[in-house]
Amino acid sequence: VRSGDRVTIRHRLGRYDVEVRSGAITDLPRYLQELAPGHRPAVITDRTVARHVAPPVDGPTLIVPPGERSKSRARWLDLTDRLLDLGFGRRSVLVAVGGGVVGDLTGFVAATFSRGIPYLQVPTSLLAMVDAAIGGKTGVNTAHGKNLVGAFHPPIGVVIDPSVLATLPDQELRNGLVEAVKHGLVADAEYFAWIDAHRAALLAREPGALATLIRRSVAIKAAIVASDERDTGRRAALNAGHTIGHALEAASRFRVRHGEATAIGLVAEAGLAERRGLVPKGLARDLVRRFRDLGLRLRVPAIPDRAVLAAVGHDKKAGGGAIGCALPRAPGALARVAEPVVPVDEASVRQAWRAARALLG
Ligand SMILES: NC(=O)c1ccc[n+]([C@@H]2O[C@H](COP(=O)([O-])OP(=O)(O)OC[C@H]3O[C@@H](n4cnc5c(N)ncnc54)[C@H](O)[C@@H]3O)[C@@H](O)[C@H]2O)c1
Ligand SMILES: [Zn+2]
Repeated sequence: VRSGDRVTIRHRLGRYDVEVRSGAITDLPRYLQELAPGHRPAVITDRTVARHVAPPVDGPTLIVPPGERSKSRARWLDLTDRLLDLGFGRRSVLVAVGGGVVGDLTGFVAATFSRGIPYLQVPTSLLAMVDAAIGGKTGVNTAHGKNLVGAFHPPIGVVIDPSVLATLPDQELRNGLVEAVKHGLVADAEYFAWIDAHRAALLAREPGALATLIRRSVAIKAAIVASDERDTGRRAALNAGHTIGHALEAASRFRVRHGEATAIGLVAEAGLAERRGLVPKGLARDLVRRFRDLGLRLRVPAIPDRAVLAAVGHDKKAGGGAIGCALPRAPGALARVAEPVVPVDEASVRQAWRAARALLG
């Protein structure tokens, strides 16, 4: 539905809707009333977001430090204690206002508090709007790797208000564009080309271009998740770039942000797919060009190769010896593959990592 500058989209995803509309945050009281009547709300956000976004929710705001390090069991412990101190119980609803870190952490608190309470996703970073807030995967990181403790716990709704992107730093905007490029690469060749053609408008934050991007990515993610909510098959296509990307994030102790790590992971995994003959030669190089044109620096940090490779071995996708990897295919094709994950051996991962390093210079 389009009326003036207001765009409303609803994706029925199992039990919840995703709504994208400029100004939607001002309607949070109505969403809470509709989706969790009689539940006492609490907002969870990070310190940076709290400075910019003031959700009109009648309840306490629990603030965590910004950054990936907050996706931890220590924060989970602190938040659950604070909720208990404040007298929250089963008839409570959490409102996650922030990027993917706040969303994943809040979702995990909601999954476990009083054996599970409802929560609303209100993503404020582009990455969370196009990807992290949708799909119900929640969790925290451990010293062994990313997202190793978590739960499937779908939100009761996702409220996306693109107007809050005005305060998002450029680097974070670009991190979000990486997941959108991934969606195109994995599921929709036309979208993959559209992002490239509209990069100037996207980087200039033209509202129409950003709204289209969010809408198309939400539709792609929602469709893939709906086909395999518990991630036993097709949903793994969304993990393209993430086997090596997650390892890089962890090995860099989260100095490399999720979006940028995913971009480097996609380049490395595309190279691996090229060597296996799964994609035409040149995909890895083409991705480097696309990401650089989107303003991503793609700098590989000065960490030893063996640290990254050890982290790949620790990733949750690595079970029983072989490393599972959702290797990219030709643009648009991976989402149609019934078994997106293929086993790769350590030597191939090492070679892929070194080749990506050389390509990125
Ligand atoms: N659950 C999933 O399916 C899923 C999917 C993709 C990514 N993720 C997770 O999401 C995380 C990355 O998300 P992210 O990139 O949003 O990180 P993030 O939550 O750290 O947000 C990025 C930065 O932007 C700031 N910020 C957010 N909104 C802002 C705004 N409107 N104005 C100003 N600053 C703002 C935050 O304070 C933070 O510093 C990773 O932990 C990743 O594993 C989860
Ligand atoms: Zn991701």
